[in-house]
Amino acid sequence: MTSTITPDPSASAVISVEEQHFNDLIDADSRIEPRDWMPEGYRKSLVRQISQHAHSEIIGMQPESNWITRAPSLKRKAILMAKVQDEAGHGLYLYSAAQTLGATRDDMTDALIAGKARYSSIFNYPTPSWADMGSIGWLVDGAAICNQVPLCRASYGPYGRAMVRICKEESFHQRQGFEILLELMQGTEEQRQMAQDSVNRWYWPALMMFGPPDDDSPNSAQSMAWKIKRHSNDELRQRFVNMLVPQAAVLGITLPDPELHFNEDTQQWDLGVIDWTEFHEVLAGRGPNNAQRLQRRRDAHDNGAWVREAAAAYARKQSARTKEMAAS
Ligand SMILES: [Fe+2]
Ligand SMILES: [Fe+2]
Repeated sequence: MTSTITPDPSASAVISVEEQHFNDLIDADSRIEPRDWMPEGYRKSLVRQISQHAHSEIIGMQPESNWITRAPSLKRKAILMAKVQDEAGHGLYLYSAAQTLGATRDDMTDALIAGKARYSSIFNYPTPSWADMGSIGWLVDGAAICNQVPLCRASYGPYGRAMVRICKEESFHQRQGFEILLELMQGTEEQRQMAQDSVNRWYWPALMMFGPPDDDSPNSAQSMAWKIKRHSNDELRQRFVNMLVPQAAVLGITLPDPELHFNEDTQQWDLGVIDWTEFHEVLAGRGPNNAQRLQRRRDAHDNGAWVREAAAAYARKQSARTKEMAAS
């Protein structure tokens, strides 16, 4: 069988039985499981992607948890708290998926708090108004869904399965964000302005969540050949904008892109030029809240040390008891 896979550079010219099996599974659109042989590049690429994704979920709790005590009603507090807890859960499923590839939780956490690991730049933007909870749900979770639904079919089994549950929860997040904005848009002039101002700030960073343009995305082709990724960055970004336009009309919100227009030939919404300088600045750690987000994560890690110690002490006690019982 001919394979569509680019050979792993570290592999020898002659393909091993295991590698052939791996290629066959990918070609057949089947799933690679932790027990299967896989090229080192495939494993590394997945560990990088899944751990970055996990870190994004965990750091992503911060801009919103910031608003739990200030949410305008008990109902809004309860919804927001549930959403932030969902994000913690997403982080945990994803760390577990990365662990099936040999990455350790300690190493991943250390890399994050040392500032060596990446996470989605979107979470480095501030949330100065309540409407930002609406924009995050509608735009940030909305972009996450566009990105993540195709990942439910990722070739690596544990990743794809984690994504199925995550996507179900992300749909709820998107709906609650839309609903916050809808309520504000049906409110006073001041509330409408607050919603519009918030969308103005989140729209472009949300478009950047899909990553750099296709001609500047070095890992994409290999990821697509390995069927981890199913669509290109620009394709997903376009899909997202096509989805947003009718929803913005329902909200009565203007998307802050004066060049946005419907292209009759392609039947798509053509967008204006994205400021990639800003994207690279935030990615390089010079975004508005990068330092604060990392410091909070470090503090949370230090403050949680006693929980990890207590859990380890309990596990030691349990294992000693099991051994004692086995010996008696
Ligand atoms: Fe999430
Ligand atoms: Fe979410």
